Amino acid sequence: METHKQLTIGLFGFGVVGEGLYKVLQQTSSLKATIKKVCIKNYGKKRNAPASLFTTDKNELLNDRDINVIVEVIDDAEAAFQIVSTALQNGKDVVSASKKMIAENLPALLKFQQKTGQSLLYEAAACASIPVIRNLEEYYDNDLLHSIKAIVNGSTNFILTKIFEEGLDFKQALVLAQQLGFAESNPALDVGGYDAVNKWTFLLTHAYGIIESPDNILFNGIQNIHAADAVVAKSKNQVIKLVAQAQKLKNGKVAAFVLPQFVKQDDHLSFVKNEYNGVVIESGFADKQFFYGKGAGSFPTASAVLSDISALRYQYKYEYKKLYHHQPHTLSDEIFLRVFISFDDITKVPRGKFEWIEEWHAQEERKYLVGVISFTELKENDWWKQNNTSLIVAADPVIEDIEIRKLKKKSLQLAGIL
Ligand SMILES: NC(=O)c1ccc[n+]([C@@H]2O[C@H](COP(=O)([O-])OP(=O)(O)OC[C@H]3O[C@@H](n4cnc5c(N)ncnc54)[C@H](OP(=O)(O)O)[C@@H]3O)[C@@H](O)[C@H]2O)c1
Repeated sequence: METHKQLTIGLFGFGVVGEGLYKVLQQTSSLKATIKKVCIKNYGKKRNAPASLFTTDKNELLNDRDINVIVEVIDDAEAAFQIVSTALQNGKDVVSASKKMIAENLPALLKFQQKTGQSLLYEAAACASIPVIRNLEEYYDNDLLHSIKAIVNGSTNFILTKIFEEGLDFKQALVLAQQLGFAESNPALDVGGYDAVNKWTFLLTHAYGIIESPDNILFNGIQNIHAADAVVAKSKNQVIKLVAQAQKLKNGKVAAFVLPQFVKQDDHLSFVKNEYNGVVIESGFADKQFFYGKGAGSFPTASAVLSDISALRYQYKYEYKKLYHHQPHTLSDEIFLRVFISFDDITKVPRGKFEWIEEWHAQEERKYLVGVISFTELKENDWWKQNNTSLIVAADPVIEDIEIRKLKKKSLQLAGIL
C-alpha cells in the first residue's frame, strides 16, 4: 500500500480559523501533518500555543525547504495573494480560506497552478464546512448541472432569521449578530453582499467553468430590506433570504446573480436558518440535492481546511474540469427578472423601465410593486439600491421567453380576461 505523504505545514494566521486548525490538528494524530511555524502579524499578542512556534517573518515559512504545505488563513487579501503566489512558486502546496483573495485573483492563481503544478485548495472559502467545491468539481458534470442556488453568507442569514422569527428590526439583528460573533466588526462586507458575491465568483468556476470578476456579477446585500417587506413575505407564506443563484439558460449560457429573494416554504433554502449555509443543486436527471451545514466559525471552517490538508496527502488537485476539459460556459444578461420593489417615493422608481407591472400597492404606509424588468436594466443602473428602495426578486424569478409572455398577455387583454 502506498504510504501517505508526510505534511509539514507553515501556517499563516492564528485567529478564529488558524487557532481552530491548530486545535483540530492536535486531535487528529492519524493525519501525518505537523505545524512547523506560524506567521502572524502582531508578535506581542497572547497566544494559546508555545511562543517558539510564532514569527512575523513570512520568509521563515516561505523559504523553509522542510515545509511542503502553506496554510493561509489571514484577513488581509492583498498580503494573502502575495503569500499564496510565492508559496506556489516556491514549490509548496497551498490551502487557503481567503474568499476575497481568491475571487479577486482567480485568473492569476490559475496561471500559477498551471505553471508550477502545485495544488491550491480552498474548500473552506465557500460555505465553510459544506464540501461544495469538491462536489461541483468531481461529481457534477457540465451537462448534469442545471442550476445551483445557495445561501453562502451566515451573517446575513442570521440577521434575516432574527427579523422574521423574532421580529427584530435590521439594526437590532445586526448588533446581535456582532455580539455573537457572526458578523464582522465592520459588517459592510457581509451585509452589502460583497462576501457572498466573492464566494459566488469561484463557485461559478467550479460549477460552470465561468471566470468572472465579482464586479461583473449582479449583486446586492440585505441593507435595504424593510420590516414591511417581511410583512409582505409572511402574507404570501414566504421568507426572504440572500440567495446566490446560477442557472443554465435555453441559449446555452448561464444567468447568475446574488440578490435578496422571496423563498417559498417548501423550498429547501427556507430551512436554512441563523448562521447556517445551504446549497441546492438541480441536476439533469436526479432532480434536487441539498447540502446543509455551518458556514462559518472556528471549528467548522478549520474542519474544511483539515480536509483539504488531508487531500494533499494523495496529491489531490482541482482539475477545473469545466474550464479545461469542457467547453466553459459564459454568463448571459439576456434574461428578465420578476421583482418586488418597495419604496418611499414613486418618482424615484422608473416605472417605464418595467416590461409590465403585476401588482401595485400605493395605499400602504410602505408602497410596493411587483413587476418584470430586464436584467441589463438592473446591471447598468443603481436606482433600485438608492433612496431607501428595496428590491427583492420573486421565487423562481428568471424569465427567458419574454416575447411569448408578452404576446400571451396581450391576447388575454384583448379577450378582456386581464
Ligand atoms: N472566521 C470564519 O468563520 C471564516 C470562515 C471562512 C473563511 N474565513 C476566512 O479565513 C480567513 C481568516 O479569518 P479569521 O476569522 O480567522 O480572521 P481573524 O480571526 O481576524 O485572524 C486573522 C489572522 O491573520 C493574521 N494576519 C493578518 N495579516 C497578516 C499578515 N500580513 N501576515 C501574517 N498574519 C497576518 C492575524 O495576526 P494577529 O493575530 O497577529 O493579528 C490573525 O492571526 C479570512 O480570509 C476569512 O475571510 C473565515
